[in-house]
Amino acid sequence: MSYLMPNYSPLDVSFVKGEGCYLTDDKGEKYFDALSGVGVVNLGHCHKDVTKAIQEQSAELIHTSNWYHIKNQEVLAEKLCKLSNMDKAFFGNSGAEANEAAIKIARLYGDQNNITNPTIITANQSFHGRTMATLSATGNDKVQSGFAPLVSKFIHVEFNSLDEIKSHTGNPDIVAVMLEPIQGESGVIIPDSSYLNSVQDICKKNNWLLILDEVQTGIGRTGKLFAHQYNDITPDILTLAKGLGNGVPIGACLTKGKASKLLVPGTHGSTFGGNPLVSKTAITVLEVIEKDHILDNSLRMGEYLTSKFKDKLNKSSSVIDIRSKGLMIAIELNEDCSSLLQQALKNKLLINITGQTIRLLPPLIINKDEADILVKKVCDLVKEI
Ligand SMILES: Cc1ncc(COP(=O)(O)O)c(C=O)c1O
Repeated sequence: MSYLMPNYSPLDVSFVKGEGCYLTDDKGEKYFDALSGVGVVNLGHCHKDVTKAIQEQSAELIHTSNWYHIKNQEVLAEKLCKLSNMDKAFFGNSGAEANEAAIKIARLYGDQNNITNPTIITANQSFHGRTMATLSATGNDKVQSGFAPLVSKFIHVEFNSLDEIKSHTGNPDIVAVMLEPIQGESGVIIPDSSYLNSVQDICKKNNWLLILDEVQTGIGRTGKLFAHQYNDITPDILTLAKGLGNGVPIGACLTKGKASKLLVPGTHGSTFGGNPLVSKTAITVLEVIEKDHILDNSLRMGEYLTSKFKDKLNKSSSVIDIRSKGLMIAIELNEDCSSLLQQALKNKLLINITGQTIRLLPPLIINKDEADILVKKVCDLVKEI
């Protein structure tokens, strides 16, 4: 009997060790982790520099609270802001918390502009988290089911449709548009290349904030540090988590310009957010990304894997689409393929399946030999359908 609440249904495996792209279970079996703990260990499991930083910082100082200055947090904020062209940072512990901060800032923006029912446009099939506000923002009935009453004032529109966003320009209650640059949880849905630019234009014209949720797409996953950098734009609010701590829990909400002055003392906070340990870890993650040219590798290996998959799978009658940006990869089949999850586990491969789509988020440090192993494992799996 387990004393854990039954909100997860874990696969029948338990890992005791991780190194690079591989995990080892308690029976000594090695698995290829093509999911990176759901887009988290972007530098691979137990990256030596990250582990060293955690060891050294934890021997020196783990936690103080935000009632005192935290040097590491200030260094991390500066580094992140300079890398993203943003102005200010707030740190929480997860993607949902980063998005909660973004939603609260959008509400304050409404309050400042005398809008009594500040409303945020989000997209269908989006995923923004599991807290009450973020699940209300999420455009997925399954995530919301049973939790009524939801937090109000979210309007959901079709992703990649500018007309749907434009249809709300007459609504004086709108304060923000909140989007993932690429929808991750719903199966790597990539919008038209100019979609975000046009959304930003609409936001600017209407005085709305543009909130980009890069919890999954950020920190090199798509081959740039942030996916919106493909569009050469700067959002008003940018949220990050997952890869930022390479497994140590941290979330960040970054703001630009007018969005930067809204959180004042007493309006928001977090006991653990940005403590010396997590901040030092995230600083190290960013340093490794630069030092080891991780973005180049993410881009090159993403292109390599995608071309291999296209080469080997396009002839397969069960594959209807292969989509990717950097190392965010989806292989869509012509039928539900949930059963492949167990089969993949038997083949010592960790992946995600959403309906009829196989999603791969391998570590960004993956090399060519490992990529070849992954291609073989995935192609063998697809043959099983
Ligand atoms: C785009 C996006 N936003 C938010 C979240 C929620 O992050 P967390 O689980 O860290 O709260 C996720 C998690 O998958 C995500 O993919």
